[in-house]
Amino acid sequence: MAGEQFPLELRDLTTGYGDVAVVRNASMRFPPRLITTIIGSNGAGKSTVIKAAAGLLPAWKGSVLAGGVDITHEPAWRRVGRGIGYVPQGRVVVPEMTVRDNLEIGAHILKGDRARIDAATQRVTQIFPILAERLKQLAGTMSGGEQQMLAIGRALMTSPRVIILDEPSLGLSPKFVDIVFAKLKALRDEGLTVIMVEQKASRALGVSDLGYVMHLGKVVYSGEAAQLMENENVKRLFLGQVPEEVQLLAEDADA
Ligand SMILES: Nc1ncnc2c1ncn2[C@@H]1O[C@H](COP(=O)(O)OP(=O)(O)OP(=O)(O)O)[C@@H](O)[C@H]1O
Ligand SMILES: [Mg+2]
Repeated sequence: MAGEQFPLELRDLTTGYGDVAVVRNASMRFPPRLITTIIGSNGAGKSTVIKAAAGLLPAWKGSVLAGGVDITHEPAWRRVGRGIGYVPQGRVVVPEMTVRDNLEIGAHILKGDRARIDAATQRVTQIFPILAERLKQLAGTMSGGEQQMLAIGRALMTSPRVIILDEPSLGLSPKFVDIVFAKLKALRDEGLTVIMVEQKASRALGVSDLGYVMHLGKVVYSGEAAQLMENENVKRLFLGQVPEEVQLLAEDADA
């Protein structure tokens, strides 16, 4: 079957909220061991399309495939069991729980198997050493960047083959944006298939292999990230050159 080579694939997917379709006929293929980034204007349907991929929203039409298997009607927890991890927008950790307990939430499908949970914790803290030092710290007392590492680490507890991230750089300092993107590249190099939605479109495409551009619920451009970054229309409409210039003006005014 043609889809077999893709750890995750959306075919002609339509979904939305209430009776409003906000993603229409979206087809996306996420090849193995690559980073694919979805960019687009605010409200384009980026978060919505990955929620449907993760099983958090039902598909109204079309299908979701994992390794060629139709998982369109599988709930989110079953997709986790298939190796599809999801990191929601806004680094949602439980602030009053420790780092260790937050990580163990991610391991719930290991059903209390202490040896496997401890092995998973050790593996994740090797990927994010900063978490190893903080296992007993309350998550809410960590910086935004550290909480984002924890949110990603939690999704890695079950050794997923695919990780889907909604705006992993949101609200992070430039230093932590670099760290998070470097980690995602390292995870890709170790074999993980990475799918992310990003507002920081140029930065994100810069670390990506492939990209999709969404506008008003539809896929309007797709291709190799490097080529998308050179596409005049994509540059003009989606790579935020004007806002960046405006930002520079503001910085000049501050000086
Ligand atoms: N829970 C919801 N109920 C109703 N409408 C929603 C809901 N979540 C999102 N929408 C609407 O669906 C559309 C797409 O939203 P979505 O969050 O997917 O956009 P996005 O591309 O992720 O945007 P952003 O860049 O601002 O995060 C928007 O018009 C939004 O208002
Ligand atoms: Mg969004």
